[in-house]
Parts: sequence; structure tokens; C-alpha cells
Amino acid sequence: MTVTDTTVNQRLIEVTDILRRKLFEFAEEAEITEQEYIEGLLWLNRVGAADEAILLADVLHLSAKVVDLNNQESEATQSTVLGPFYFPERHHDVGNPGRICPESQPGDPFVLSGTVTAIDGAPLAGVQLDFWQSDSDGFYDNQLGDETNLRGRMFTDVDGRYEVHSVKPMDYPVPTDGPTGEFIRATGHNPMRPAHFHVFAMADGYKPKITHIFPDTSQYLDNDAVNGVKDSLVYRFETGDDGVSRTTFDLVLAPV
Ligand SMILES: [Fe+2]
Repeated sequence: MTVTDTTVNQRLIEVTDILRRKLFEFAEEAEITEQEYIEGLLWLNRVGAADEAILLADVLHLSAKVVDLNNQESEATQSTVLGPFYFPERHHDVGNPGRICPESQPGDPFVLSGTVTAIDGAPLAGVQLDFWQSDSDGFYDNQLGDETNLRGRMFTDVDGRYEVHSVKPMDYPVPTDGPTGEFIRATGHNPMRPAHFHVFAMADGYKPKITHIFPDTSQYLDNDAVNGVKDSLVYRFETGDDGVSRTTFDLVLAPV
């Protein structure tokens, strides 16, 4: 019988061949016992059931590695991990300049502003910028309930400029109440991430830019749970006489 199966995925075959070879090498080098093998597979089942596949990949530093492999344009702003707390349906246009939290939000007020340009320095107007961050206790809005807070969207003006008003984010632990948390505790892995502010820039004709900005006062800059820190993304936030911290974060986008 001759069957022409148009659903065969050559890329999947290629990737699977590499993965199988590497897994065999892993089993041999680690001298995995049959008991360890079964326990590991059952644990992976629980990771999937808990929707923690992304979290596990982040904690294994695999997500950061894949980001680096796919974003090597040296002239563009460096990328880092998306993380598990980006929910585009929660991002609403806050205007530009705009606030992503109420005036009464507890914490140290800060203003982030800058210009989005192409690699040749040309300002890019109308770039969609999504921002999200933890509160001053280290929690994202989705961890607290259904109310949207400390996240929003704006579009760069005709000169490529943006300005977002908020409060400074705080260091926080990745979720540790599930099977990935068991792994973190059993291996002594640091669960903490240094404080950071997420930025996701999207513009037609340019590669989406997923990145963070880290205040230089953040703890864990040298020991990020997901290995997402880049020196070029660590910034000093200058506090003015008005008690507001400000910093300028210019973004450079690479063409598609
Ligand atoms: Fe985050």
C-alpha cells in the first residue's frame, strides 16, 4: 500500500532526531535508573497538568537560551524572557503619556520614557508598547484577582516617543506551590527574580521585541531564577526632588 501523507512534518522529524540523540546521551551520562526514569516521567505529567511547562523551561534557563539564540542582532535592544504573566487581553490603551496604575497605588512612583527607533536611528511612530510589572509587594494583578492593574498599552507618538507612569516593581519569587516548586526546593535553586518592568514592542516590518528593564537596585541581578538579566537592561532610576524616580529607556528594533 502506498500512502502519501501530506501531514508529515519534516521539521518535526529533524528536531525529534536531534532530541532523541541528546536524550540518549543524557540517559547514558547521568546513568539514569529505571526508578528515576519512571519518577521523572510521572513528575513531568504533573508539570503539564499544572500548566507549568513554561515555568519549568524558564527555571531550567532554557527559555532564556532560546531567546538568545533567536535575537542576536547586536544593534537592537537585547531581548529577554516573556515570562508567565503576559495576558494581552488585559492590556488596554492608557494613552501616551499614560498611567498603568491608579495615582493611589502604593509604592515609589516612577516614570519610564524613551524613543523607539529602527537600527538606523529613524524614530518609529505608532509602535505598540505593552507594559506589565509586579506591584511593590512583588505580585502581578492576575495573582490578586480579576482586576487589571500595573499593565497597559500605548503607542509611540510621531517622534517615536513614549512615557509611562507607574510605581517601581519589586523582586518576587516564581510560583513554587506546584511540581516546579518541588524541583526548586529539591535542588536548592533560587526562586527569586530581580525586580523588573516588562516591555513588549510590536511594529509592522520589525521583529517583536520582548524585554525587561531592571532597576540597578534590584536584588538577585546576579542570581535571577530564570537567568534573564542582561547588563544592557540594568538601569539607574534617578529620584528627583518630587520623590519620583525617572529613567530613559530607548528601544531599537530590528527589521523582520
Ligand atoms: Fe515578571
